[in-house]
Amino acid sequence: MAKALDGVKILDMTHVQSGPTCTQLLAWFGADVIKVERPGVGDATRGQLRDIPNVDSLYFTMLNANKRSVTLNTKADKGKEIFKRLIEECDVMVENFAPGALDRMGFSWERIQEINPRMIYASIKGFGPGPYEDCKVYENVAQCTGGAASTTGEIDGFPMVTGAQIGDSGTGLHLALGIVTALFQREASGRGQRVTCAMQDGVLNLCRVKLRDQQRLAHGPLTEYPQYPNGEFGDAVPRAGNASGGGQPGWIVRCKGWENDPDAYIYVITQAAAFAGLAKAIGHADWLEDPEWNTPEARLPKLDAMFEEIEKWTMTKTKFEAMNILNPLDVPCGPILSMKELAEEASLRATGTVVEVDHPERGKYLTVGNPIKLSDSPSDVDRSPLLGEHTDEILKSVLGMSDAEVAAAKEDGAV
Ligand code: COA
Repeated sequence: MAKALDGVKILDMTHVQSGPTCTQLLAWFGADVIKVERPGVGDATRGQLRDIPNVDSLYFTMLNANKRSVTLNTKADKGKEIFKRLIEECDVMVENFAPGALDRMGFSWERIQEINPRMIYASIKGFGPGPYEDCKVYENVAQCTGGAASTTGEIDGFPMVTGAQIGDSGTGLHLALGIVTALFQREASGRGQRVTCAMQDGVLNLCRVKLRDQQRLAHGPLTEYPQYPNGEFGDAVPRAGNASGGGQPGWIVRCKGWENDPDAYIYVITQAAAFAGLAKAIGHADWLEDPEWNTPEARLPKLDAMFEEIEKWTMTKTKFEAMNILNPLDVPCGPILSMKELAEEASLRATGTVVEVDHPERGKYLTVGNPIKLSDSPSDVDRSPLLGEHTDEILKSVLGMSDAEVAAAKEDGAV
């Protein structure tokens, strides 16, 4: 079956996590992603966090599916010549090097436009223009500088980063949207354009509700935060523990087995529309007649006490039993699922969100497939390429180089 981005050629200069998540998504949508890597070295993640000696790491294999790998020294003269030819042939170039690296190679945006005016040139950097624009950035730096860490954590505790890679994978997602939007605009304009996404901006975009709360603070306490009504609010949005962050109070409560199982918990949201069912289920039908409890406003100053009562009930049930009882009552809730449980979850396997892939050197491994499902563009997951696996194929089929030219490029150390 045809795929949404069939015919789109991507010159993928990305490395580590943020850029590769972007180009992996585009590959799943059908783009031909040509990953350019330094000869003999490759993307640093091939060798990071290795679980099997001398085999591409899961870090690499889970971020580079469905791509082709060409090795190319883009700092050597012959390598630059080949790189220029690739720019001529491709529709999109994506990179997430430290600021200025592509310019230092001699490929500024102005130069790229000269070579190929239809080129969409997309970059991820840690920061946008401003005092930090020259800084190198990794995931947790972005979480800290984008507002996630200051608003995450226990109410009296340390700032906290989250396991979700909102700085890297989050920004990769943002960039992918920028690229397909630019491809769409090119249909009408005939021109390429520059697409940039700063990790700080991407994280702040995902923390939008916290900037909302910052402004609400000027008009009084944040009544849905655990600090209300007994705690103090300062002049910045505080950390809110596991409070829901929306208009409907929620919290994580313990379930049966919590003493030995670190994930025996469930998140319960006391949505007003489903409160009657929840109250009855936990043995508190009395709340429904009691003006101290039967409105959201009455409950707001005593959310702690309310969740303690809910927890007394959830501790008599496993997280899945609690889910099975509360779901039919329309109570929004969700068990805390471990990575082990997610890896084994049959429904995620069935939808292709968790996929088993076979790799010639490491054997079978699990990866997360395309979470975005298109009805007319299936996303099969193919294993990541070995370093330089497609060098000859790309030089010949994309650039039309002869066997002798490929051999000369190798002799030269360019590929
Ligand atoms: N041929 C020749 N040289 C190559 C090459 C190739 N095919 N591919 C990369 N290089 C060179 C680069 O040009 C650069 O050289 P320079 O410093 O002389 O200009 C060098 O390799 C290393 O690139 P750099 O990006 O500086 O890598 P790093 O390991 O020092 O830094 C990051 C890693 C992630 C901190 C940095 O790339 C960065 O801040 N990126 C932007 C933000 C980002 O995406 N961060 C998240 C990563 S998950």
